[in-house]
Amino acid sequence: MYKILLVEDDRNTLEGLAEILNQEGYEVVKAIDGNSAVKEIKSSPFNLILTDLLLPDFDGIEVAQQAWKEQSEVMIIMITAFGSVKHAVNAMKQGIYDYLTKPIDIDELLIVISKAINEQQLRIENISLKDKIKSKYHYDNIIGNSGKMQEVFHKVNKIANSDATVLLRGDSGTGKELIARAIHYNSPRKNKNMMEIDCSSIPETLLESELFGHEKGSFTGAHKMMKGKFEIADGGTIFLDEIGELSSSVQVKLLRFLQEKRFNRVGGTKFISVDVRVIAATNANLEEKIKDKLYREDLYYRLNVIPIFLPALKERRDDIGPLLEHFLKKFSLKNKKNINGINSEALAICHEYHWPGNVRELENAIENAVVLADDSILKPEDLPFYMNVKKQDLKFKDLNKEVGSDYQSQIEYAERMILMDALKETNGNKTHAANQLGFSIRTMRNKTRKYGL
Ligand SMILES: Nc1ncnc2c1ncn2[C@@H]1O[C@H](COP(=O)(O)OP(=O)(O)OP(=O)(O)O)[C@@H](O)[C@H]1O
Ligand SMILES: [Mg+2]
Repeated sequence: MYKILLVEDDRNTLEGLAEILNQEGYEVVKAIDGNSAVKEIKSSPFNLILTDLLLPDFDGIEVAQQAWKEQSEVMIIMITAFGSVKHAVNAMKQGIYDYLTKPIDIDELLIVISKAINEQQLRIENISLKDKIKSKYHYDNIIGNSGKMQEVFHKVNKIANSDATVLLRGDSGTGKELIARAIHYNSPRKNKNMMEIDCSSIPETLLESELFGHEKGSFTGAHKMMKGKFEIADGGTIFLDEIGELSSSVQVKLLRFLQEKRFNRVGGTKFISVDVRVIAATNANLEEKIKDKLYREDLYYRLNVIPIFLPALKERRDDIGPLLEHFLKKFSLKNKKNINGINSEALAICHEYHWPGNVRELENAIENAVVLADDSILKPEDLPFYMNVKKQDLKFKDLNKEVGSDYQSQIEYAERMILMDALKETNGNKTHAANQLGFSIRTMRNKTRKYGL
């Protein structure tokens, strides 16, 4: 249950609001002036403080400042009398989340409160994620002994300190996201936000507002101003994944940001300047898209300031062994199993396999194997079935024995084989493979995720 501190010197308003918030399922603590508010803050944690700007002893801003000393994550909403909006705007600059003018519109109040708490939960998640990642991405958790990966690390080292835009290229599962995080967490921006957004998973119409925010009333459903990812990432980094999937209007807006470091929210005219480093990633062939007039060339040049190419796993087979070891340790620990190696036959299969899904596929294969293994050494039969057989040796009717006799698992097996074939023929290029099979890149992505390709 979320806990709210309500600070208001007018007793009727205080009781009335407390009752409404209680009914909405919040736990409410009441305070009649600044001093008693501070006392409450010192004695227990709150998610949110809703305070009058003008209190008999001191003002709401001071309550906010005292509160942040004790509880840095607490969200603050100010209530002001009509006419003191100027003060409220000032308070916003100091970090309060929002303000409401009297007389209070209850619907608006409830929306603002729930948004504030949502944002707080996101921040908290982000902080804990940051902690996790800090320990995880000391490079030594990114495996890459091959010359090709060493070159990547070298480049990451060289550019982490700069603000230059980075474009990560490489097939699905090669580690683009991992490298993006390594850049951020090894840069001077590491203590600020890293916002990640998958441009292909958000409907075109919402993407612009997700990225740049929107003003209240800018479209149906925009009941309140909302900050976009660029604003939240101020001082930090934004990771734009699947950058090949932008509509032309978002391409224009992103280009403008890269040129001028400022933008306006959807429906707004005011320019907002932020200091954000952009890291973009794609496995699409942008050069081809430019030729087909689907992608702006000028945007491409702005994004491609520092290109980093992540090679397919089959082009750096030296990494397979160390990656196997890494994932074996990781999943043995996670599953509380004592698996300390892989036999030579299984190792040979892994070395020969073409890994169309790259490191992600290898990671999935090892996780599965670790879960299923009965012995302390992995054997070929612990590896996914499709790795053990050459496709031409396989008769479809044989599947019964190996895959499970139910219709669904056989269909899935067959689908996986078809996908793998198409990926193999197109060198792992999902867009081309999707074209070949006659479905959209989105469908392709869903299917390859499903099968860990
Ligand atoms: N060099 C590496 N060392 C250790 N783990 C790795 C490495 N490269 C990738 N991985 C792991 O493989 C998985 C896939 O990596 P990641 O998500 O970064 O790939 P991606 O290139 O962003 O793929 P996609 O294009 O499908 O989004 C992740 O779980 C990641 O932790
Ligand atoms: Mg990715």
